[in-house]
Amino acid sequence: MPGAPFAIEGAMTPLRVNGEHVELDVEPRRTLLDALRADLGLTGAKKACDMGNCGACTVLLDGEAVYSCLVLAVDCVARAVTTIEGLGEGGKLHRLQEAFIAADAFQCGFCTPGQLMALAALFERVARPSDAQIMRALSGNLCRCGAYQHILRAARMARDR
Ligand code: FES
Ligand code: FES
Repeated sequence: MPGAPFAIEGAMTPLRVNGEHVELDVEPRRTLLDALRADLGLTGAKKACDMGNCGACTVLLDGEAVYSCLVLAVDCVARAVTTIEGLGEGGKLHRLQEAFIAADAFQCGFCTPGQLMALAALFERVARPSDAQIMRALSGNLCRCGAYQHILRAARMARDR
């Protein structure tokens, strides 16, 4: 991309994660997911398939939901990364998180951070998304426990509050 910031091999990689500036010494091949989990200790984004199939690793990149296992950390220079750890504000849960609890929208919880981040991206763009928009936003996030009905109920609760 012309004019886009780029990382130089051997140089520290500056990132902005959950509003904080961090500098990481990462190889150019390191994924954002590995940098978040292993280098920054932010283990909310989950490593499941590690190949862009399940959505467990979903985070926001400049407000867009992305699979962090498919993004290189060095490609996130000068971009805003938000993980589940940064979703709430001022010590308060995001309304989606509150709705997930109220709707019992999980079983094992492994997919939950990814589901929440996928929905958070949608709710940032659309204040009152339709059911179709909600389902489309969640279409890239698998739940092995099959909690889909409760996840949908939680999204509706957050929307209708
Ligand atoms: S771990 Fe990234 S999509 Fe499955
Ligand atoms: S709650 Fe277990 S994978 Fe979704």
